Order: sequence, then C-alpha cells, then structure tokens
Amino acid sequence: MTTEVKRKLNVEVNGISIECASNARVLEAINEAGFDVPTLCYDERTGAQGTCRMCLVEVEADGNTQQVAACTAFASNGMQVATHPDHIVDYRKTILELLLSETSSPTTCPKCISFKTCELHEAAEEYNAKWDAFPSLVVREKPEDANPFIQRDYDYCISCFRCTNICNDWEQAGAITVHGRGQENSIASFFNNDLLQSSCTFCGQCINTCPTGALTDKKIVGKTRAGDLKRTKTICPYCGVGCGIHLLSENGQLKGTEPDFDAPSRGSLCVKGQFASWEFV
Ligand code: SF4
Ligand code: SF4
Ligand code: FES
Repeated sequence: MTTEVKRKLNVEVNGISIECASNARVLEAINEAGFDVPTLCYDERTGAQGTCRMCLVEVEADGNTQQVAACTAFASNGMQVATHPDHIVDYRKTILELLLSETSSPTTCPKCISFKTCELHEAAEEYNAKWDAFPSLVVREKPEDANPFIQRDYDYCISCFRCTNICNDWEQAGAITVHGRGQENSIASFFNNDLLQSSCTFCGQCINTCPTGALTDKKIVGKTRAGDLKRTKTICPYCGVGCGIHLLSENGQLKGTEPDFDAPSRGSLCVKGQFASWEFV
C-alpha cells in the first residue's frame, strides 16, 4: 500500500498563518485565511485571466517584495501576503474610478436595481470610488436584440470578458466573442447578429457571471426590486438532472430563477431551468 503525501505550503495572510496546497494561487490562500479582494475578471470555473488587476496584493517571498495579481500568482512556502496596504487600496480605488468612467451611472444600473448590487458597484462602494472622478468615456451601447431572455446593455460593460470565457470554455456554445479593439471593443455574436441567429443556447451563464449590469435576465429586469427579493435554495423541477437553483420571490410571488453555484451543478442551467422553471412551480 502506498500513501500519497500531499505537500502543503505555509503562507501568512495579513498575519494569519494558514496551510494551502502546493499548487495554490495566492487568491486561494487569501480566501482560506478568511479575507477577500475584488476579483472583477475572475470566474473559478474558467480560471484566471489577470486582466482587471483589482486583485493586486503585496507579497513578500524569499526576501523580495512585489505586487502580484492574486488570481494568477502561485503561493510559495513562507510567503507573506498583505491584501490591503494603503497604496494598494488607493490603486484599487483608481482602477475602479477608471472603470466607472467607462460605464453609465450606478443609479440606473439594471442589476443593482432589480437583482442585487453588482460586483462593480459593490466594490465601488467599498472603496469609496466615485463615478465622476474622471471624464465619462461611455462609448458602448445597448444593442437592439429581439431575443426574449437576455438584456444586453453594454454601456455597463467593463471588458472583463467573463461572458465570452464562460460561453466558449464552459458552455462551449461559441455564441459571443470580443469585437473591435481598445476602448471601442464590444461583446458581439458572429457577424453582429441577434443572439437568436447565433449558436446561443440561452443557458444564462453569461448573465450570471457578468459582474455588472451589462447582461441581465430580460424576462424580469425592471419588474423586481433588489431589496425586496427573497432567494430560496431548491432543485430545478423541470427534469430529472437536479440542477441547483434559487427561486426568486417578492412579496410571496415567484419572479424568476438564479443558479445555485454551491450545488453540484456549479451554476450551470439549461434555458428551461434558467428562464422557465419558476413559471410552473
Ligand atoms: S446564454 Fe449561454 S450560450 Fe448564450 S451567449 Fe450566454 S453563455 Fe453563451
Ligand atoms: S458583458 Fe459583462 S461579463 Fe461580458 S465583458 Fe462586459 S462586463 Fe464582462
Ligand atoms: S481578478 Fe485577478 S486580475 Fe482580475
């Protein structure tokens, strides 16, 4: 009989000592120690991109101090991590204000109004980042798209590309991609067609990973109030697979569905589970 010896790393995060796996990223060590940093371009299902730089932290290892993106950098034995030094907090605030300058006003954000505070505006509030700190650079638009399920409002897009990654690498639908360059890039289906004319399966994964109000559930956006919504964990009743969902209700009335990311289905749903299951409960 052989016994597998799993190597562990000893890492210190903000003075808290933890053990993590030898292949752990710094972000895992931070979460293991009970701390949090904003991760606007990260979805653990598709892995790290390292593009938004919001997860930047200061690490000291082997006598060197450097700033690294926590989602991409690997932890090492004896590493010391500081998640919120003043200069990193200032840096995150500036990044947020630059992102906010590319988006429409937080007061009209469809995700914040109808569902829950979006990750962008939640981080902006936490870091006291102002929407009008820099001149507005909103150049994206809300495309006309007759599909019945997904509202696309790209004047809230921050080019994190979580949606294209989840569509191509997780759902493997290949329905959306990045169109254009630099400030004028946008998320588009091939030949800029409506989603109904693309290979979109309407799984809703892009809505659920989007950290802003750029993608929302068209069937209920504007018809619910985030503060009144109650979430009830259950199983999708549509077929026998048993995907985890949260039923959304307001004043005792069912309003919609969100995936349960803690269920074995890890947030995946089909079009029926995402957009129709609540209608016949
Ligand atoms: S709903 Fe699913 S298939 Fe359609 S664009 Fe979004 S992630 Fe891709
Ligand atoms: S639509 Fe949402 S998920 Fe897609 S790139 Fe824009 S902000 Fe990110
Ligand atoms: S979450 Fe790490 S760079 Fe975006």
